[in-house]
Amino acid sequence: MNTNDSKCPRKIIAKNLHDLPRSGIRDFFDVVSSMHDVISLGVGEPGFDTPWHIREASVFALEKGATGYTPNLGLLKLREACSAYVKKTFQIDYSPKEEIIITVGVSEALDLAIRALVDPGDEVLYHEPCYVSYAPVIRLAYGKPVPIPTQKEDHFRLTRDQLEEKVTSKSKILILNFPTNPTGATLPSKDLADIAAFICKHNLIVITDEIYAELSYEEPHVSIASFPGMKERTLFLHGFSKAWAMTGFRLGYACAPPEIIEAMMKIHQYTMLCAPILSQEAAYEALQKAETDIAAMRDAYRKHRNFMCASFQKMNLPYAEPQGAFYAFPNIKDLECSSQEFALKLLEKEKVAVVPGSAFGASGEGYIRCSFATSLDDLKEAMVRIARFLARR
Ligand SMILES: Cc1ncc(COP(=O)(O)O)c(C=O)c1O
Repeated sequence: MNTNDSKCPRKIIAKNLHDLPRSGIRDFFDVVSSMHDVISLGVGEPGFDTPWHIREASVFALEKGATGYTPNLGLLKLREACSAYVKKTFQIDYSPKEEIIITVGVSEALDLAIRALVDPGDEVLYHEPCYVSYAPVIRLAYGKPVPIPTQKEDHFRLTRDQLEEKVTSKSKILILNFPTNPTGATLPSKDLADIAAFICKHNLIVITDEIYAELSYEEPHVSIASFPGMKERTLFLHGFSKAWAMTGFRLGYACAPPEIIEAMMKIHQYTMLCAPILSQEAAYEALQKAETDIAAMRDAYRKHRNFMCASFQKMNLPYAEPQGAFYAFPNIKDLECSSQEFALKLLEKEKVAVVPGSAFGASGEGYIRCSFATSLDDLKEAMVRIARFLARR
């Protein structure tokens, strides 16, 4: 239906949506999907299939007749398994009965977290370039997004000084995402400790999106929630999409103080009711053999990362070596075109899809995001094509 149709008695779409842009990634991949033989370094999806024992658990549950609703918070056995996993991996203790909620991906957990905490006009700080959903989700809750640009020269780290510059009396939340989509940045413990001190000084709340935590290639990952005094003011979000290659299962979870989980639960029970039971069964199985499954994928991604970085070096394409996640974010500023123009030309001339950096916020302009989660053969061919494309310019 055309919303501007003169026969329509009133404007249909809510005002809050009028200025909300469509995701830059989505638009770009509409073009990609209409073409043949494209090598895609674009999508944020693992190149692996979900490990077989996880798929089997879901199939087995279906055969046994697991076709109903679960409790709103999620299956208790899954919350217990999440609690044990988070304690072992991140050294944070959450009660499965009142401090964990199972959600439809980290996407839903993030939306619930923001809606549970943000009053109109509250400011939400986050480091940028960042995951495409942060600003829209904040705006949908009538909050004010406050991006903090980070720089390649600094390995896209977030510093306390940058935060002090942006904080105001209206600031309420800081979103952290390390390892970062799209830059692959990680944050050393010392920097996290500085940020924790900043959070306490300004009485803020942290939402930490830990979806790439297991895909950390150099140092073991540390969560801000594990710092003294931080558990009480942190929402810890995690999920199965990336490290377990389970994007299609749509499963995540949030850990937080009981008061916050209760508030998130109110929204979840009226909007989602519960996460799908077969995905919850699969996630329960995923947590039984987490270390072996993840180690194999992480080792493969590390090799792919090293290959991609070595290739960019040969092409003289400046980049900051990604320390985590599965993306490299090389700089194309010297090529005197926008990241959108670069990505479209590369697609047209060489049939390689990368994501324009501008999709990740204004400070992503001048960069392209290249996923190295694809097969090594595709990666090798993509690097030959990008090198040829650059040589012709
Ligand atoms: C940083 C980040 N957070 C959240 C998500 C969404 O994850 P999920 O599939 O669990 O909804 C993504 C997906 O790309 C992501 O990169």
